[in-house]
Amino acid sequence: MKILITGGAGFVGSHLADKLIEQGHEITVLDDLSTGRYSNVEHLEGHERFRLIIDTVLNQELMEELVRETDRVFHMASAVGVRLIMEQPVKTIETIFHGTDVVLKFCSRYRKRVLIPSTSEVYGKGAKVPFSEEDDLLTGATDKHRWAYACAKTLDEFLALAHFKETRLPVVVVRLFNTVGPRQTGQYGMVVPRFVHSAIKNEPLTVFGDGTQSRCFGHVHDVVEGLAKMLETPQCFGQVINLGNSEETTILGLAEKAIELTGSRSEIRYISYDEAYGDGFEDMRRRVPSLEKAGRA
Ligand SMILES: NC(=O)c1ccc[n+]([C@@H]2O[C@H](COP(=O)([O-])OP(=O)(O)OC[C@H]3O[C@@H](n4cnc5c(N)ncnc54)[C@H](O)[C@@H]3O)[C@@H](O)[C@H]2O)c1
Repeated sequence: MKILITGGAGFVGSHLADKLIEQGHEITVLDDLSTGRYSNVEHLEGHERFRLIIDTVLNQELMEELVRETDRVFHMASAVGVRLIMEQPVKTIETIFHGTDVVLKFCSRYRKRVLIPSTSEVYGKGAKVPFSEEDDLLTGATDKHRWAYACAKTLDEFLALAHFKETRLPVVVVRLFNTVGPRQTGQYGMVVPRFVHSAIKNEPLTVFGDGTQSRCFGHVHDVVEGLAKMLETPQCFGQVINLGNSEETTILGLAEKAIELTGSRSEIRYISYDEAYGDGFEDMRRRVPSLEKAGRA
C-alpha cells in the first residue's frame, strides 16, 4: 500500500516509517523539519519504497496531491512538547488545528483512511485514574498557554469525529501517553532524554515540582505497532482510543533510574514549575491510561 506519514521525520513518525517499510509498504514522509530531524530518516533515503518531501502540511495544493495518491494517512505532524508550546503559543495552535483541518478535508474528499494522534494532555486536570476515553476533560483557563496544546488537540478530536459522524470518514483518534525510545530529543522538554543526557554528562538532573508526580512510559516500538494495527481495524473508525503503557513511574524514580543505569555522579535538583515555565504552570499528579478499549480493538 501507499502510505503518507506527515511529521514522519519526527520521533514517533520515523519509527512508524521504519515499521511500515518493514511491512512492505511504500512510504511518503512529509515533514517541515521544525522539530523533526533529517537524521531520523536518513537511513531510509535511497530505499526504493521511501520518499521524503520537506514541506508543510499547511501547503494545501501539495497535501491534496499527496492524499489523493495515497491509500492511508498517518497525521503525525504537530507542534509537540510543553516547552515549545509555552514559547510559541500561536504557532502551536495554528500548526495543530489548521494542519489537522487540511488533512481531514482531503482525506474526506478522497475517502482515505486516516489516523489522528491526540494526547493524554487532553485529560487535563482530571484526577480520576486510570483515564478512560469517556471521561470528562478538565483543562485550565485560556490565559494559561500550557492548556493550548490540550485544547487544540481536543478540537482536532472533535473535528475528526465530526467527519466520521457526517460522512463516515474512516478516521481513528489515538490518545498517546508518554512515549519514549531512540531518536527522542530532550530539546523540547521531553523528560527521559533530558535526564539521560544530563546523567551521561554528570550534570544535575532537574526535577520539576517535588518529583512525586507519576507518568507511564510506553516504548515507541510498541506504540507504532499499535498505530499501524488500528488503521487496519475498521472497529476503530470513529473511535477515540488510549495507547500507552499503564505501569506508573514517579519522576523522581525516573531520575534515580537514569543516574543508576548510566553510573552517573549527577545530583538531583528540584525547581518549581513556575521557575521552569512561569505562567502559573500546573501539572497533573498522575497520568495513567485505561487500556481496555485498545485491548478490545
Ligand atoms: N512523543 C510523545 O510522548 C507523545 C505523547 C502524546 C502525543 N504525541 C503525539 O504524537 C505525534 C508525534 O509526536 P512526536 O513525539 O513524534 O513529536 P515530533 O516533534 O518528534 O514529531 C512531529 C513532527 O512533525 C513535524 N511538523 C511539525 N509541524 C509541521 C508542519 N506544519 N508540516 C509538516 N511537518 C510538521 C516536525 O518537524 C516533526 O518531525 C504528535 O501528534 C504528538 O502530539 C506524542
